[in-house]
Amino acid sequence: MADPSSNEPGARFPEAARPRASGAATRRPAATATRVTASPVVVHHARYAGDPIMQEFFRRTRGSATESRRARVVMPMGVSSSFRFYEPYPIVMERGRGCHLWDVDGNRYIDYNLAQGTMVVGYAHPEISRAVKGAVATGSMFALPSRDDRTIAELLCKRFPVDQVRLTNTGSESVMYSVRLARAFTKRTRILRFEGAYHGTYDAVLGGFRSRPDKAGPADDPQPDYAAAGLIPGALEGALVAGYNDIDTVRRRFREHGREIAAVLVEPVILNYGLCLPEPGFIEELRRLCDEHDALLIFDEVKTGIKLAWGGACEFLGIRPDLVCLAKSIGGGLPMGAFGGRQEVMDLIVRDEVLHTGTYCGNRASLAAGIATLGRVMTRGVYRRLNSLSRRLRKGYEEVVRRHRLDAHVTQLGPFGTLWLGRRPVKNYRDFLHYSEDRWMRFYFGMANNGVLPAPPGQDDVWTMSVAHDEKAIDATIRAFDKVAPLLR
Ligand SMILES: Cc1ncc(COP(=O)(O)O)c(C=O)c1O
Repeated sequence: MADPSSNEPGARFPEAARPRASGAATRRPAATATRVTASPVVVHHARYAGDPIMQEFFRRTRGSATESRRARVVMPMGVSSSFRFYEPYPIVMERGRGCHLWDVDGNRYIDYNLAQGTMVVGYAHPEISRAVKGAVATGSMFALPSRDDRTIAELLCKRFPVDQVRLTNTGSESVMYSVRLARAFTKRTRILRFEGAYHGTYDAVLGGFRSRPDKAGPADDPQPDYAAAGLIPGALEGALVAGYNDIDTVRRRFREHGREIAAVLVEPVILNYGLCLPEPGFIEELRRLCDEHDALLIFDEVKTGIKLAWGGACEFLGIRPDLVCLAKSIGGGLPMGAFGGRQEVMDLIVRDEVLHTGTYCGNRASLAAGIATLGRVMTRGVYRRLNSLSRRLRKGYEEVVRRHRLDAHVTQLGPFGTLWLGRRPVKNYRDFLHYSEDRWMRFYFGMANNGVLPAPPGQDDVWTMSVAHDEKAIDATIRAFDKVAPLLR
């Protein structure tokens, strides 16, 4: 039987890899419920009185509290991206090296957040630092073609089943251009996507992300709700939503709207409400339905990208989508994204029927970091080690869960994993909503107190293993969890 935690090409998801028992779990409050209060530190000390985890957190992070208070004066929530804010205040970072981050109070953390899954190369990798320094010293951008543009494109076309790529700066851009290409190619407008999945900030793909329970409709007929304002009128109506792993609803959407659907947009393995695996045959059936109805299949590989396997989810699942969206890890820590696909779709750009532009696309610093990442750091040889370290972390977490009889389970695939503080299996977004964000954040703060950032803050993200992690870091992480676990019961 295939190893459930393996991301070797062609590996599948046997039952053993799945969460086993189901059980009661608390309802997760809306993530948007965390709001900035007037005098954060005073208010929060009172709110968390009697909680030893939080008292220790306050003691260790006085500098972060001060920095955060000052930042809130000049920036909404005191952060550059709303996903970075959490109550009572985020830990403010100063530097990173290898698999470690240091905060403004001088605390050191073993980090599995890795800049929301971007820094699979680890912090300050010498190969990448050297490449970036060289590019900056000879002109950080030309906004004119260079040999490096071609080199990156060749490296990406080797890894992913695409004929051509164009570069962007972010995942949001990569998704936006892929959707435009799909619409222009099919001469249709609607995009079918999966409830709860995140595909970046483009208006057309926000319907169904963090939809409100009272507006989201029944599980087998989810609606493209979106809780925040300011979208282009009609943006939500363009979307069609189905539950992830709910192939019956997908089939019904195609039956009812087959001639309107330009593309199915899917994160092939969900990494945005914890690690949620596709059921056997689910993605294959999406491919088949798209072919049957002349719609395009778009893989959003912004997160899976060069982490799940050398050739991403395409290689791992053995499926060729029509378009692939990339970003995050391919830039080795500098802003770089890409989208690519088969020739006849990309020809729309050649014929100028779809316009793709961007001053910073292919800036030299990002290209240099990307070439070092794709060409010299994330070579075929590193994946076996990433997987084995990630497996070691899963087994360690599972052992602690057993020893402390915690109501929890772990899912892991390749370099990714999630500690679920409950037993309910998560097959889609509705399952995920049963999990308590508050409980998970206590785990986060408890681990932070013991020198570990176990994932980005929030049950909705995953741990990522980098090439800079080692057995010593994993074992220290498991020891930290052993200390925190009794406080979570
Ligand atoms: C699957 C997926 N697609 C797209 C995006 C958007 O990428 P970016 O934040 O670079 O715009 C993200 C960001 O987390 C993502 O996880």
